[in-house]
Amino acid sequence: MSAREARITIADQSYRNFASDLIPLPSLATDITGYGDVVQVAPVDPALLAVVKGEVGGVVGRAKSNYDKYHDGRWKLLALVNGSGDSQDTTLADSTEGKPTEVLQKMPATTALLEETFAMSSIVSARIARFQPGGNLWEHADLTPMEKQETRPLRHHIPTHTEPGAVFVSNGYRVHMAPGSVWRIDDIGRAHGVTHEGTRDRIHLMVDYRGDLRTAYDQPHLDPSYVQRLPEIGKDIIQTITNRAANLIEDGQEAFAENGVHSLFFRVALGGISTHEIIRDAYASLGLNWSHKVDEWNDKIALYMQGVERA
Ligand SMILES: [Fe+2]
Repeated sequence: MSAREARITIADQSYRNFASDLIPLPSLATDITGYGDVVQVAPVDPALLAVVKGEVGGVVGRAKSNYDKYHDGRWKLLALVNGSGDSQDTTLADSTEGKPTEVLQKMPATTALLEETFAMSSIVSARIARFQPGGNLWEHADLTPMEKQETRPLRHHIPTHTEPGAVFVSNGYRVHMAPGSVWRIDDIGRAHGVTHEGTRDRIHLMVDYRGDLRTAYDQPHLDPSYVQRLPEIGKDIIQTITNRAANLIEDGQEAFAENGVHSLFFRVALGGISTHEIIRDAYASLGLNWSHKVDEWNDKIALYMQGVERA
């Protein structure tokens, strides 16, 4: 990386400190009884995982960006099991008969790990998800028709490469999914996001599965040492933040204001308002000259939070 690139990268990430003077730091959560979005459901054999890691590392370069409206360019996918058998077909679709892609067919250890954990015929989709350092998958809810079904598949993660700065965030908690377990996300219809504050790729196998696990812990659980509780802030601080974002927008720093507000989802519990609404409100406070941006953000709110794609 050249010095110029390094400077750009640093500048690019400075929005992560937006409004940090107004926000306390997260605390290690000792009581997580109110949080049930993410659980550890099954063990992963460490020796097998080590081989899987090598296989995954060998193919991850073929992962390509998808779902581009939801992230900032560092989220890439490669399909291992899907309805078509094509590894570049990474858009989630219901399939009654998952086929291994040409990529998985050359990954015997990964196939063994999937077979050990899941009934292969009940896998709707298995993908490698590569999340590069500095990346953000902004606050959103997954609300495809499939998620609304009663027999919706459940999202499972098997981390192969990760570090503590890579976290899944929902409902005011940050969870680092560590290697060694199969993790399950119980409600992706609730707003969630992912951010990566570390320095190396986070790579997970991401499996949408409709069935019973073949190996499982006696009880699903969540080790509190992987969880941080986000501090809550009140309406007055949210108003101050909205005003600050509006001032930045007027100064021509729209991207910084938007990214800064978006990053709040990973740093603070906002008590019911979404980061997209705060951005919309900041534009709305600037008067009629900005009404096109208010419209744009109302569309984004519908897309991110209600799964509605509007023309
Ligand atoms: Fe999601």
